[in-house]
Amino acid sequence: MAGRQDRRTKTVSTGQDESAVPAPPCAMVIFGAAGDLTKRLVVPALYNLVNAKRLASGFHLVGVDLAAKTSDEWRKGLTDTMQDAVGHGGEFQADQIDQTSWRWLADRMSYLQGDLNDPTTYRRLGEHLAELDKTSGTGGNYLFYLAIADRFFGTTVAHLAAADLMKENNGKWRRVVIEKPFGHDLASAKALNAEILKVLKEQQIYRIDHFLGKETVQNIMALRFANGLFEPLWNREQIDHVQITASETVGVEHRGKFYERTGALRDMVPNHMFQLLAMTAMEPPTSFDADAVRGKKAEVIEAIRPFKGAQALRDSVRGQYDAGTVEGKPVRAYRQEPDVDPASNTETFFACRLKIDNWRWAGVPFYLRTGKYMRRRWTEIAVRFHQAPYALFRGTHVERLHPNWMILRIQPDEGIALEFAAKRPGPSVKLSTVSMDFAYKTFFKMAPNTGYETLLYDCMIGDATLFQRADNVEAGWQAVQPILDAWANAPTPAFPNYAAGGNGPAAADELLARSGRAWRSLD
Ligand code: BG6
Repeated sequence: MAGRQDRRTKTVSTGQDESAVPAPPCAMVIFGAAGDLTKRLVVPALYNLVNAKRLASGFHLVGVDLAAKTSDEWRKGLTDTMQDAVGHGGEFQADQIDQTSWRWLADRMSYLQGDLNDPTTYRRLGEHLAELDKTSGTGGNYLFYLAIADRFFGTTVAHLAAADLMKENNGKWRRVVIEKPFGHDLASAKALNAEILKVLKEQQIYRIDHFLGKETVQNIMALRFANGLFEPLWNREQIDHVQITASETVGVEHRGKFYERTGALRDMVPNHMFQLLAMTAMEPPTSFDADAVRGKKAEVIEAIRPFKGAQALRDSVRGQYDAGTVEGKPVRAYRQEPDVDPASNTETFFACRLKIDNWRWAGVPFYLRTGKYMRRRWTEIAVRFHQAPYALFRGTHVERLHPNWMILRIQPDEGIALEFAAKRPGPSVKLSTVSMDFAYKTFFKMAPNTGYETLLYDCMIGDATLFQRADNVEAGWQAVQPILDAWANAPTPAFPNYAAGGNGPAAADELLARSGRAWRSLD
């Protein structure tokens, strides 16, 4: 399997790496072709890959969905969505569409109407793909992207295998990308892994977590392992605690039905938040080979100390938003959202304190928090170092020393900052906290990037480093399962318990206050 060292410095979306080559030709089949993910992220990402010259001329995109439409209608719909997305500041940040690039992609699209539960869909798909092998030069390589509801993951994979579409021979590859949620708890994740591993090899499965497509998340490895400066500090001797925040200013929007059975913990923690945790806390891998990296990530998640009984309730906090004001706009309470039960007990906020039981991190608490409709959109990893001894400053105007922080800003305003104390100019000793700040936008030209470009390209070149292996997914669920169990057996807190546009429930502050700590401000 290709490792990431092959093209370590490439930034797919910007085209800054002259040496990166187009992916091998393939037919990419997207199930859920009429859905939101396809329009909002996957197709814009493919377009960005065309711009960056990363798709082979033998590339072809086949859309499969239940809706009856022709290839022309599908293409036209996507053309309109792309055009509408321009300049709207969403995930697709482009301010214009390059017509030559779009035409290049649009000319390579076809649509197939079909029901995922019907074997004839896969037979017809097989015929279509065989035809494309002859006419479009796809090389017989297929990438199946499951942008569909999770209840269809197992069935679709089984049908693909039964239709002989997953068989790899004569150098042809067949891969499948599986979106989240991968399972709903530990038992269902294990069952899904078992089901798909009956018919596929692990190397054919790309379980996607789009946080790993973010440059800033990938950069955590560069920060830690390409610099001699930080590694000696990166342990319990120097670090007091770590805070990982993913705070959102969106509510559940039109996803009430999905969110009702998911909630903030399942939606964000075993996947996205644990990816941030793993990147921050993993041991150095012996190489950038996919299995070496994923092995180290699995190890650290497996080292999370299991929450036991009442401790699962004590060390976790759930919240649900009430009506409030977010970014100056009044918004309704979660229980008033479409497709949401007016007495819903689903959490839209989650925080916890966890410990990693290994030599590097023993005794260092990791605090995680994530929520919808918070004060500010902000994702960061904040590492707090131990305080310097105060003794020297007795007899000065300095009343207390401020701690040092290293802040990895994932989004927005991507960058890294180091906060430390400096003497203020003047005759007496007074200190201020100052910051050394690296901002991505100052150093690098950031081209439009949905975050899916690298991930799609990696699937095509067979680099699974940024994808979850079966054990990674199961380790994530294993760690949160005691909390899910404890919640299922305990009374729900009085919801709603935080105002939209705020910092989350008071209990989240108390979680840190118990040990004399406080969350970094979201202001
Ligand atoms: C998704 C969750 O996986 O990630 C959403 O289902 C969440 O609820 C989103 O809003 C956050 O991703 P990003 O890239 O917008 O921070």
